[in-house]
Amino acid sequence: MDQLMIEGGTRLCGELRASGAKNSALKIFAAALLGDEPVTIGNVPHLRDITTMIELLGSLGVEVVMDEKMNIEIHANTIKRFTAPYDLVKTMRASFNVLGPMLAHYGQAEVSLPGGCAIGSRPVDQHLRGLKALGAEIEMENGYVKAHANGGLKGSHIYFDFSTVGGTEHIMMAATLADGETVLENCAREPEIVDLAECLNAMGADITGAGTDTITITGVKSLSGCRHDVIADRIETGTYLIAAAATSGKIKVQGAKHDHLEVLTGKLKEAGAEISVGDDWIELDMQGRRPRAVSLVTAPYPGFPTDLQAQIVALNCIAEGTGTVRETIFENRFMHVHEMKRMGAQIRLEGNNTTANIEGVCQLKGAPVMANDLRASVSLVIAGLIADGTTIIDRIYHIDRGYEHIEEKLRNLGANIQRTSSG
Ligand code: EPU
Repeated sequence: MDQLMIEGGTRLCGELRASGAKNSALKIFAAALLGDEPVTIGNVPHLRDITTMIELLGSLGVEVVMDEKMNIEIHANTIKRFTAPYDLVKTMRASFNVLGPMLAHYGQAEVSLPGGCAIGSRPVDQHLRGLKALGAEIEMENGYVKAHANGGLKGSHIYFDFSTVGGTEHIMMAATLADGETVLENCAREPEIVDLAECLNAMGADITGAGTDTITITGVKSLSGCRHDVIADRIETGTYLIAAAATSGKIKVQGAKHDHLEVLTGKLKEAGAEISVGDDWIELDMQGRRPRAVSLVTAPYPGFPTDLQAQIVALNCIAEGTGTVRETIFENRFMHVHEMKRMGAQIRLEGNNTTANIEGVCQLKGAPVMANDLRASVSLVIAGLIADGTTIIDRIYHIDRGYEHIEEKLRNLGANIQRTSSG
């Protein structure tokens, strides 16, 4: 199994390019199942989750053609089967989102229930409630959701009980081919939802309001093909900005959209960073200073993203002062804390493990560590970069799910990081 070995102590300095957003690309792959013609997706990141999604489409019999630049062409009309198997859905929850598109386009779908996850129980009740409101008949059998919509889906008025990114995307996709108008209220507003809506509209859908809490979808008879480039990954960009701040460095991320990261850059300014932005870049300069601790509460967009919480905890470990970080999206998203403590971090978990109180120390010490989720794992990379000595991070297949060429990108910024194999 691969590991990452990091010799800490170097400042990150230089330039890098943001990759395409994983969480956008995955849903756009699912959306391609709605089209009668091929959908070509550009700026797709080279990641394990993307490979899993391609495998899933392949298992449905869908033809997927990829060129050397990772432009991916999906021919939904070659579909032969309507079952997404447990083996694939359990490795990546986002694959559950093929249910709605298959149901809307072909009137049937059978998708394994995703089950629990390292960061929380993550139910799909809002997805299923939304599909039922659109007229789907849904049964549970042997761990699978079996859905039918024989006369097609029907437009409806749906109020989500709380903000759900996957739920909003799923029902928005399904409603594109429903008969009549669908109004979704209390929607999540993440940029990935806007990206998905833009792709669907380019396929001929009629969606307005994506990015606000009310989305209106007027159903159309069929969707065609299109070419769509995925937006830059704001979580990847944010991760590198935090890593640079934690190492007192200076970096410029090309291709990044500052509009999507304003809450983070606000926090990094509080930490002492100078931030400059352009149309498609963000630059951070710590001028060699040690960061100051920051406090925050995670929240749905435009609040502070849960997907950057672990990375900020890593920064706070060596910051001046004490920071309090409260997680409100997932119930079990502080696994990194236990590993960071093994590196000498001073962190107390409070409030039934919903809040981390981090007292900055001058230096972490390298150690062997591991984590069982993507963002926790990358936060240990940041901890390794600021630690004294060698950190070996195990189970890095989690990192490979969401960070394209991470060691190459970090090495270009001056980090001493290698991938090794434990055999
Ligand atoms: N929830 C329910 N019922 C539902 C749906 C969600 O109870 O039917 C709960 C979840 O358990 C969670 C909260 O609602 O506690 C919010 O979940 P949401 O549906 O918003 O999250 P998601 O769609 O499952 C996406 C990202 C996550 C990111 C969250 C929040 C993808 C593939 N995943 O998950 O990304 O943390 O939104 O922004 O888009 C990651 O990239 O590391 C990652 C976990």
